[in-house]
Amino acid sequence: TEVKATNITWHSGHLSRQERRDLLKQKGCTVWFTGLSACGKSTIAVALEQVLHQRGHAAYVLDGDNVRHGLNKNLGFSADDRKENIRRISEVAKLFADAGMITVTSFISPYSADRDDARKLHDEGELPFIECFVDTPLEVCEERDPKGLYKKARAGEIKGFTGIDDPYEAPAKAELTLKAAESSVAECVAQVVNYLEEKGFLK
Ligand code: PPS
Repeated sequence: TEVKATNITWHSGHLSRQERRDLLKQKGCTVWFTGLSACGKSTIAVALEQVLHQRGHAAYVLDGDNVRHGLNKNLGFSADDRKENIRRISEVAKLFADAGMITVTSFISPYSADRDDARKLHDEGELPFIECFVDTPLEVCEERDPKGLYKKARAGEIKGFTGIDDPYEAPAKAELTLKAAESSVAECVAQVVNYLEEKGFLK
């Protein structure tokens, strides 16, 4: 989206990204979870945050339901609103990553184009973007149905529910795919932590 305001200029600080990295002993990045409702992304995200914290790393989760209570409370679930939801989260994640955080986002983010925009934004800022597909079959998500939303969607009480009557476009080039129906939460977390370690983001 275009910048609407006029007479604004970019103001840079005095600190380099390297100076922030040296202080925090980690490289800021965004771990972007995507997957169906009830696929396990939020559970894995908060477990990841805890494991990273225990290992001495500053991590922070931005979560769908929570962000929709605040920053994005004026947005619903139309395609345009989901796009704007993801755009705002991407910008926030980018700021957090720039500040040096291991930023973990947990949103369905069902449309490939919106996730690609999030990636592009990070690429432009030279910040790592790690797309993590939480690949849990729809049947399993629907069986779990912790909030009873699939049931309501099947009954036609919720319109445009992801996976039922609104699309989920699975990532084609995710850095990580987590089989959360077959692996434990701890195993999924370990997969992400190993990746972050291998890439040198945790030093
Ligand atoms: S999106 O598509 O990325 O903008 O969605 P997100 O911000 O992650 O919000 C998903 C949570 O909102 C609840 N919810 C719905 N999900 C999908 N489709 C529809 N129509 C819908 N209406 C409400 C649902 O509880 C999602 O929570 P999670 O944690 O993903 O199960």
